[in-house]
Amino acid sequence: MCGIVAYLGEKEAQPLLLEGLRRLEYRGYDSSGMAVLNGTGLHLLKKVGRIQALSALAEQTPLHGNLGISHTRWATHGEPSDRNAHPHVDATGKLALVHNGVIENYNSLKKRLISEGHTFTSDTDTEVLAHLVGDHFVKLPAGTTSRLERAVIAALREVQGTYGIAVVHQDEPGILVGARRGSPLVLGIGTGEHFLASDVSAIVAYTQKVVYLNDYDVVTIDRNAFRVSSLTKRSAGFEISDIDFQQADAEKGDFPHYMLKEIFEQPQAIQNAIRGRLSHEEATAVLGGLNLSPQELRDVDRILITGCGTALHAGMVGEHLIESIAQIPVEVDFASEFRYRNCPLDRRTLVFVVSQSGETADTLGALREARRKGFRVLGICNNVGSTIARESDGGVYMHAGPEIGVAATKSFTSQVTIFALLALLFGRMRHLSASQGRQIIEDIEKLPAQIEKILGQTERIKTIAAKYCQAHSMLFFGRLLQYGIALEGALKLKEITYINASGYPAAELKHGIIALIDKNTPSIFICPQDSVHEKNMSTLQEIKARKGPVIALATEGDTTVESIADDVIWLPKASDYTLPVLSSIPLQLLSYYTATALNRDVDKPRNLAKSVTVE
Ligand code: G6P
Repeated sequence: MCGIVAYLGEKEAQPLLLEGLRRLEYRGYDSSGMAVLNGTGLHLLKKVGRIQALSALAEQTPLHGNLGISHTRWATHGEPSDRNAHPHVDATGKLALVHNGVIENYNSLKKRLISEGHTFTSDTDTEVLAHLVGDHFVKLPAGTTSRLERAVIAALREVQGTYGIAVVHQDEPGILVGARRGSPLVLGIGTGEHFLASDVSAIVAYTQKVVYLNDYDVVTIDRNAFRVSSLTKRSAGFEISDIDFQQADAEKGDFPHYMLKEIFEQPQAIQNAIRGRLSHEEATAVLGGLNLSPQELRDVDRILITGCGTALHAGMVGEHLIESIAQIPVEVDFASEFRYRNCPLDRRTLVFVVSQSGETADTLGALREARRKGFRVLGICNNVGSTIARESDGGVYMHAGPEIGVAATKSFTSQVTIFALLALLFGRMRHLSASQGRQIIEDIEKLPAQIEKILGQTERIKTIAAKYCQAHSMLFFGRLLQYGIALEGALKLKEITYINASGYPAAELKHGIIALIDKNTPSIFICPQDSVHEKNMSTLQEIKARKGPVIALATEGDTTVESIADDVIWLPKASDYTLPVLSSIPLQLLSYYTATALNRDVDKPRNLAKSVTVE
């Protein structure tokens, strides 16, 4: 949600900034801009629309200089427009600032600044922050340390809210200052050059060495050195880490969209999620990152899973897996609700926060609330070094590789697979026998090959998508473990096609939803041969009796479903526990091909951002 890239080095800043913004476009794409400093002063370009629009402008009027900051925006305060695009400048026009986050007390700060003679040209909270830093800059005396750094620190001490910022000032042309609280910011360390970025994908082409900044860190950078100080502590520590993927992993390759590439990466992603984590000998899962002793694992008598969007749906499947395999009661809650709900939690509750990005503000808020209350919180994250990963007491990395498409795909199936591993581990600490454990391991190990098989039906799914793409709404049905998949299927469809869709536990049909069934409303029914297959057949008949078209996801060879449904997508024979991973794949493809049939912008759906770092 909003992407920041900044550069200070020997090269021309503009091309590096534009390339970095392109890689961060998934974080927001309603307007963008950059500021470059050179011998003649500070120069700005801003444009509403995609990065492409800014690139075109930069081609006509290139900015030259070796120090620059840039931003791609997902609007919070003020509509998307050239005027509201970042960077914003201060009253002197010599300072430029880009910002990701929300300044909550911007109104009172703005009033004060107006009373002191400041005038504002945008509707944003960011412009207020730029003026505030600029105000401190002009009032501070020159000294032995950077005046810009001191001005940033003084301004941030007055600010409530969240920020990741990058700031430059014409009077300190060799200095770049960054700071973060609640919004991610990474320092990239090159040779004779430094970068700041919201996410490593913007800079991985230039360096593998990074410092993941902590909340309240302020980093002051010149060409050859950097210094990290803290707004709250006397001194700030930092650690230099290696980025765990290569530039090529974040490329589209021959695929038309990142989403399709990431759907097809799932056999590998699942392999990565289970690699080294299954012990045949002990018939259990090995998850060292949990940082829990066998005794502590044994002592857990309740689990809370929280997250947002797709991650929450994975948690809902996780609930069923853990409850049925390990017999531990599980509650799933929206992170945005949990953080304010003040719900009573049992002392021996273990909390899992699930997040692909590891930066979602609501999920981070839930994590902090649970830790504040003294609960052990474990993260299930994809982005190594992300805030959630770092602030958790332990956890499990997905190792799914970079996910760039805004609609989550491989991260979802990785999360569900990790819940299967957790259920196995908790189960084996309790009543689950070695032979039952071994059976689950065998089932999990079959997943990559089974996913490949489903991907082999891509053309069939494309044809089905073309047949139903004009529908105004669609219904998704599934029971038990498949209910979370129905919700996720509906979310995927909404996100990238804008078709109204909702997911239901199938038997709820008769409790109201049946009123929606007609010949123009397709139902996507997940009805593999599992423990509720027969029950599902009755529901299927009820839909058909009312002329509702049905696309069924059924187990290979299921002639009953074939004879009732209008179209069938086949799932391999699999256990109830691994079927949710398998049934996700056709639903992702169905959404994808419906979106392409409707000419939607699959990787950048309207109004969405992949990583929502504001509340
Ligand atoms: C946003 C995205 C969703 C995503 C959710 C959680 O709402 O639009 O696609 O599932 O955030 O993201 P996370 O990175 O925490 O998994």
